[in-house]
Amino acid sequence: MLALKALLPYYAGKVKCIYIDPPYNTGNEGWVYNDAVNSPEIRRWLGQVVGPEAQDLSRHDKWLCMMYPRLALLREFLSDDGALFVSIDDNEIGCLRLLLDEIFGKANFVATIIWQKVYSPKNSAKHFSEDHDYIAVYARNAPTWRPNLLSRSERQDKAYRNPDRDPRGPWKPSGLDARNPYSKGIYPITCPGGRTIDGPPGGSYWRFSFEKFKELDRDGRIWWGKDGNATPQLKRFLTAVKKGLVPQTLWRYEDVGHTQEAKQELIGICDFDGPADVFISPKPTRLLNRIIELAGSETCLVMDSFAGSGTTGHSVLGLNNRDGGRRKFVLIEIDERVAETVARQRLSRAIDGYAEKRPGGVSREVDGLGGGFRYCTLGEPLFDEVGNIRKTVTFPELAAHVFFTETGAPVPQPVEASSPFLGAYGGKAVYLLFNGVLGDRRPASGNVLTGDVLRQLPAFDGVRVVYGEGCRLGADRLRQEGVVFRQIPYEIKVS
Ligand SMILES: C[S@@+](CC[C@H](N)C(=O)[O-])C[C@H]1O[C@@H](n2cnc3c(N)ncnc32)[C@H](O)[C@@H]1O
Repeated sequence: MLALKALLPYYAGKVKCIYIDPPYNTGNEGWVYNDAVNSPEIRRWLGQVVGPEAQDLSRHDKWLCMMYPRLALLREFLSDDGALFVSIDDNEIGCLRLLLDEIFGKANFVATIIWQKVYSPKNSAKHFSEDHDYIAVYARNAPTWRPNLLSRSERQDKAYRNPDRDPRGPWKPSGLDARNPYSKGIYPITCPGGRTIDGPPGGSYWRFSFEKFKELDRDGRIWWGKDGNATPQLKRFLTAVKKGLVPQTLWRYEDVGHTQEAKQELIGICDFDGPADVFISPKPTRLLNRIIELAGSETCLVMDSFAGSGTTGHSVLGLNNRDGGRRKFVLIEIDERVAETVARQRLSRAIDGYAEKRPGGVSREVDGLGGGFRYCTLGEPLFDEVGNIRKTVTFPELAAHVFFTETGAPVPQPVEASSPFLGAYGGKAVYLLFNGVLGDRRPASGNVLTGDVLRQLPAFDGVRVVYGEGCRLGADRLRQEGVVFRQIPYEIKVS
């Protein structure tokens, strides 16, 4: 939560693809929710929506309390053409859908994907052996959002052959009969080998008129079999099929991996002290590859705020290595031990190369993917309990917060501590007088808006909003100059 809030001033509206894999709330995970329940948003929400009796929360209530503010914040990170993918299973899919409908609006629901996560049944299952997880997909703007087509695999292309050496390249045969009634679709056909076919198979129709059929045959687009007597079929050329495949909602493990594959991947790259220390719930990199391929671009920003072992980052590095893209990722993980000893280790090794540990004690050298990342830990909050700005806060830190809370947009460029001008957005410019940015550190003047200071502020053709510790100019003068003054710290919104 705090990390999301801290990052919002920098990345609001900039993320094209968010994937999260939150605790599924199976009852065995021991996830943390306290921070969310104590947050002002949740207090307000519980008070306004649920009523004061909501003290005794069930496990599902607590999960909702943990998820609600996070999902609401995540939506703010999405760009207009961005989408959110959430892994979940039957424990919370119902609640998650309702929550996302409320936060994103029903109209922005895109699909619920079924991921076949295991390849063999669990014979110990009490009722059914569960084969799948769900991935709920919502777009910031579903009516205009479009997924990318998926690249065709070699397996899919192998279905196209060229037994008659057609110069147009490999093709795949496709039946000429269809069930839709078609008045011109019943006629006899004489094969080049001499056999006569009285008409289409019972209950069906040829999909072309006789004239069109003859035209296709003259153009070498009809296949009669090797002996010229087979039921005719249309040749569909590989070059004519779309350059990619429309994504479907059923994702099989052959295409995107399964949970066992994910574990092997992780054990292969990371060192764990013992079996009990192995991170237990990673997702396969191939699953993330599919998501990012669908919802990202070669230069997009990808985010995962339940990062665990860092699969999302690993996938971004791999895709960039494969196609020369410049995708970036932001990962957040609440458990410092997991972040430090698993995700960080995994990403560093993936970047530099490593000796992959394989079953049976064999190892294989894996080349580094290149790329890089910065590992950060959450700093002190900007404000103390009574709302004062902490002494350790730097000018750029406060600047990012002030600009974002004033405009709702991220700071347009990295802020230097050398000018009070932070940037402009939506017809207003934002200035910050803090830490003696104009060179005068005297408490009574350095951060105070005076006539002199006003003359030094970079000009702007629009409203100028100035944050400072004090103002010596009267209301009339401010109005004449088109300046709105906001006093720090009291008039800075604490989100
Ligand atoms: C299912 S794992 C994610 C695994 C990840 N997709 C991967 O491939 O490794 C969920 C992660 O969310 C983290 N988590 C648990 N409770 C959380 C909370 N309240 N807020 C944020 N993260 C939490 C856990 O520490 C865990 O690493």
